[in-house]
Amino acid sequence: MLRIANALEAQLRAAMQRAFPEQAAAVEAAGQRFDPQLAPASKPEFGDFQANGALPLAKPLGQAPRAIAAAIVEQLAGDPGFAELCLEPLIAGPGFINLTLRPERLASEVQARLDDPRLGVPEAGSASPVVVDFSSPNIAKEMHVGHLRSTIIGDCLARVLEFRGHGVLRLNHVGDWGTQFGMLITHLKQVAPQALDTADAVDLGDLVAFYRQAKARFDDDEAFQTTSRDEVVRLQSGDPVSLRAWGLLCDQSRREFQVIYDRLDIRLQERGESFYNPYLADVVADLDGSGLLVTDDGARCVFLEGVSGKEGKPLPVIVQKRDGGFNYATTDLAAIRYRLASPPAGDGARRLIYVTDAGQAAHFAGVFQVARRAGWVPAEAQLEHVPFGLVQGDDGKKLKTRSGDTVRLRDLLDEAVERAEADLRRRLADEDRQEEEAFIQHVSTTVGIAAVKYADLSTNRITNYQFSFDRMLALSGNTAPYLLYAVVRIAGIARKGGAQAVEGGSAFTAGEGLVFSEPQEWALIRELLKLDAVIAEVEEELLPNRLCSYLFELSQVFNRFYDQVPVLKADEPARSSRLALCRLTADTLKLGLGLLGIPTLERM
Ligand code: ARG
Repeated sequence: MLRIANALEAQLRAAMQRAFPEQAAAVEAAGQRFDPQLAPASKPEFGDFQANGALPLAKPLGQAPRAIAAAIVEQLAGDPGFAELCLEPLIAGPGFINLTLRPERLASEVQARLDDPRLGVPEAGSASPVVVDFSSPNIAKEMHVGHLRSTIIGDCLARVLEFRGHGVLRLNHVGDWGTQFGMLITHLKQVAPQALDTADAVDLGDLVAFYRQAKARFDDDEAFQTTSRDEVVRLQSGDPVSLRAWGLLCDQSRREFQVIYDRLDIRLQERGESFYNPYLADVVADLDGSGLLVTDDGARCVFLEGVSGKEGKPLPVIVQKRDGGFNYATTDLAAIRYRLASPPAGDGARRLIYVTDAGQAAHFAGVFQVARRAGWVPAEAQLEHVPFGLVQGDDGKKLKTRSGDTVRLRDLLDEAVERAEADLRRRLADEDRQEEEAFIQHVSTTVGIAAVKYADLSTNRITNYQFSFDRMLALSGNTAPYLLYAVVRIAGIARKGGAQAVEGGSAFTAGEGLVFSEPQEWALIRELLKLDAVIAEVEEELLPNRLCSYLFELSQVFNRFYDQVPVLKADEPARSSRLALCRLTADTLKLGLGLLGIPTLERM
């Protein structure tokens, strides 16, 4: 519907200009344009759109807003383009102009979508790539539920941007550098030296435990601290033995992460913190050159503008510690520079998206500010932190296993699939259905993983999110099973006789009139036609839950339509027209779920 909205907006603006030429000239002289304030109708009975642009003109024109609206409507009446799109406008309330699209226009939009594999979503195409920095777990540490959220949300955003035609760099900024390796290698040298020169000498679980021990020693053993720091220096200066040990540790974690990515069908390009090591010194030198750097208590830092901590003192971003080491912020500054710089020594990106927990908001605000002040960010570039809340258990506390341990992602996915399988077997028994084992495994895996993804994506990411297997696997409500079931239902309609029309599409070649008459049909059509606007919104605001709400709403409107209006039993041409709506609904749900990273099923 975006195309129609754009056309209407232009027609309204032109009508305003014709109605009030003097005011239009004054507005233009001020470098502005009339704004028709076109918005979707607040209620279906008001039509499709409302234009509120008459209201703000009341004061400058010294006229009643309803009179202004009437003058605009009068001008619209003389515009043949407008008459083609809309029925006669109605003026309501203080001076709103309510617009209802012509039924034949809606029908021809439906027709156009039936013929378009992109379902009316335009392909933007852009000259420069978008970086989506997501997932980004830390080597030798557990990949936890926070990383799972980042992975699921980041993948969805990348899919939406890719679908819109942007080149997307899906970057996994893994924590593979820095102090933690000094601690770990030092500790392993003493307790498990074989891990440092033999692949897979210890398993990742042990490695995580070793890391914890190392961290504990680091925190209260000064000698250990010194050795660890020396070890980092050795690593960072390219000592072959350290590098080999580091490489082994990274490999092992990497393989473990990959198991999760494969299960979730996530593609990522690893470009960890270590990648930026050669650029860190330049970052500091450059900041120094632009006069931003201050030495404070031996550390080199940039004081932030407009951000103060306790006692009103400005907060620093530390880029080089007293011991000469660089840190997380330095790496992110180097990464921003690299991502914005032109190839070959950069990505040439103009939109950088970072998906991490909200706890890192201050970090990103800080590095973004420093990068801007250093002059590394071109005016048209966008740097966006996409924060999300914590994952909590059913009890509202941090998600933990029964025994109080952190939940392993692998176990979490296993449990989702196992529960989906148990639900399915129960349903099959109730319905007295026999299915092959392969079918059961395929459906359970798809539903289980879909449920985990959808539960995460469908809540507003900013808020904390309560993880509940029962809720995410329910067949009713705003859940993956509910949406998957809507697709299955339509596939069933196709099998029950509508197959030719639903799949072939040949019954719906352009011009062969689709005929609609029932309010349930119009409601479904209006819902279907929102897809392009919803995708544009997700692309802009980076909120996957908008897409989820839309798909949920669409499924509900579809179910109402299908429950209340005969489809297969209807006479022609209603039957074919309604089957066309079924097909378009299925295609829209499949496309939308696909953008969420969720594959659909024909039967379940
Ligand atoms: N490794 C970090 C963590 O586990 C996330 C990295 C996010 N990306 C970035 N460019 N800082 O918290």
